[in-house]
Amino acid sequence: MSSDNTILRTVVDLGDRSYEVCTGEGILGQVGYMMRQHNLNGTVAVISNPAVLDLYHDEVASSLDDHGLRSVFLSIREGETHKNLDTVRHLYEELLENSIERGDSIIALGGGQTGDIAGFVAATLLRGFDFVQDPTTVLAQVDAAIGGKVGVNLPLGKNLVGAFYQPRFVLSDVATLMSLPEREFRSGIAEIIKYACIRDREFFVYLEENLESLLARESRTMLHAISVSCGIKAEVVGQDELELTGVRSILNFGHTIGHAIESLTGYRRFLHGEAVAAGMVAAGHMGTAVTGFPGEELDRLVALERVADFSFDLGDLSPDDILDRVRFDKKVEGGRVRYVLPRRLGEVIPRTTVPEPVVHDALDYVWALT
Ligand code: GLY
Repeated sequence: MSSDNTILRTVVDLGDRSYEVCTGEGILGQVGYMMRQHNLNGTVAVISNPAVLDLYHDEVASSLDDHGLRSVFLSIREGETHKNLDTVRHLYEELLENSIERGDSIIALGGGQTGDIAGFVAATLLRGFDFVQDPTTVLAQVDAAIGGKVGVNLPLGKNLVGAFYQPRFVLSDVATLMSLPEREFRSGIAEIIKYACIRDREFFVYLEENLESLLARESRTMLHAISVSCGIKAEVVGQDELELTGVRSILNFGHTIGHAIESLTGYRRFLHGEAVAAGMVAAGHMGTAVTGFPGEELDRLVALERVADFSFDLGDLSPDDILDRVRFDKKVEGGRVRYVLPRRLGEVIPRTTVPEPVVHDALDYVWALT
């Protein structure tokens, strides 16, 4: 990671497809300049959603205009239920109606779902457009916008249609996080805790000491936590872009149980990070039985999550519901569901098979925390 006065830069090292993740405060208005710097000179289609456009349309439009770039703004509906092929088809049609051609580019301006859909459109329409990510949520800034996973859901499951399609650059303005609803901001913190758990013990200690400041959205803390997280994501993606060796799968720490919680509740009751927070604790408990993860480190993870106000209250869901769902997901995904388990804070073991009674005990433990 390098920095100048305003921008922290992290390189995702993928040979001739390498790119920078630029994180700063108040840098969204530099998007036009950065497009030009990357030789993106044609029309720019900005795919976003109504709430984000209300806040940032004018700033992005004038930055593109100031740099002589024609822009077209397209709005899609928010939410996991709209992340589907119908939305993709509408976007294809709107882009073509707006005379978007090869050589033009697409910006995703918004959260993770916007980036996933816009990226999939960029990867597939007319065999591919240059693509830029301008994430405006914590979750998107530290995870979804980096690493090139794009795609949409099918009725049978999440992200079943997609591609690996890397952006030309990522521009993350932490000032955009100030307008996030409290619950959504907190939910993104779960992914930041995830990075500390999987790769960086020192960062875990930093979070123990600074989580309150992060929750208060103090700029210095946000910039540090987000750029460290981006650095870890970039390093992992650089080692295993296509998720072939198991390295990239460590990013799924907490996600097996987390996805089961989300899908059982129709992606409506819990935000992604809330479900992942419970999933990380469950994986931590499995770790105490399978990898020798120390019990006192599990206690530290639970304590940190409690500071972030994750409640572990999973309502009327039961451990058996979760186990049934995990078995179902495993079938849909071709029998490949394994767990990422911690060995110690800052180190995980990917692709671990866990006996069902151990999973059940872990779920009982999470339920008992409420
Ligand atoms: N969000 C997990 C990954 O990018 O692999």
